[in-house]
Amino acid sequence: MPKKVTKAIFPVAGMGTRFLPATKSVPKEIMTLVDRPLVQYAIDEARAAGIKEFIFVTSRGKGALEDYFDHAPQLEQELRKKGKDELLATLKSTNMDSGDIAYIRQHRALGLGHAVWCARRLIHNEPFAVILPDDVIAAEKPCLQQMVEAYEETGGNMVAAMEVPDEQTSSYGMLDIAEDMGSKVKIKGMVEKPPAGQSPSNLAVIGRYILSANVFGHLNRIKSGAGGEIQLTDAIAREISDGEGVYGYRFRGQRFDCGSKSGFLQATVAFGLSRPDLRDDLEGYLTQLMASRKAAE
Ligand code: UTP
Repeated sequence: MPKKVTKAIFPVAGMGTRFLPATKSVPKEIMTLVDRPLVQYAIDEARAAGIKEFIFVTSRGKGALEDYFDHAPQLEQELRKKGKDELLATLKSTNMDSGDIAYIRQHRALGLGHAVWCARRLIHNEPFAVILPDDVIAAEKPCLQQMVEAYEETGGNMVAAMEVPDEQTSSYGMLDIAEDMGSKVKIKGMVEKPPAGQSPSNLAVIGRYILSANVFGHLNRIKSGAGGEIQLTDAIAREISDGEGVYGYRFRGQRFDCGSKSGFLQATVAFGLSRPDLRDDLEGYLTQLMASRKAAE
């Protein structure tokens, strides 16, 4: 049985340029899906998977993100005084215990691989998860929990995988499959954003990983040689060359790319419709909106 996965890295040092001008002052990860910032969905998913230590790789301008995880005693007191118990419980459920959360700076946005590498001294020699908070996954059983359960059988390294149509393969890291075992696939290679028509499969990597600490050694070597962005997929691909197991995991759930405007809007509607307190209003509005658009055509 592989070692338990208890640490997760959350790389949040990117500049979020697709959301300018909002991201001039609001970190993308604090942007709100219904009533929770993206990062809260990521933390909840990690907790459900058994993660105990939360490591954020941040950058200049991400202060609001660190503040979000502070306790808010005054606000709690106020809610208690007013008897707003439900809100108080919601607020308290976001509290992180002291020492469970750490922040590391990535001084320059040199890519996802580099951001993960920045957290190397906090991981030691144990497997760890990586969660990209802008990939939000709606699932009955949280995606990382599904992966941790699968990883307990495989060990090695695991990436969340999702089927994408041919015209989208050039936007993702794509998997070259050695053996398809259903929900798990053994991988013999990975290509980052292959040119159209040249992808080895339709299985794309999305923002959830369980990685062996060996990956830091590969990132070390890539770092000293690379000119441009340091890709995490390159480091994982080196695990394959070293004969280590790398698996893709077809998770059950729906992934929203909240790093893009369209994905964020779709997630807002989907999460709104899944909320009993909002569903009826929102559904009524959407039905009316679609009908009036149709009538105007
Ligand atoms: P993205 O490329 O999707 O995010 O990186 P971005 O750079 O913030 O956004 P755009 O493209 O400018 O709009 C995927 C994830 O990797 C992190 C990002 O914060 C995001 O969570 N990342 C990316 C880093 O932490 N450091 C980097 O150097 C690059």
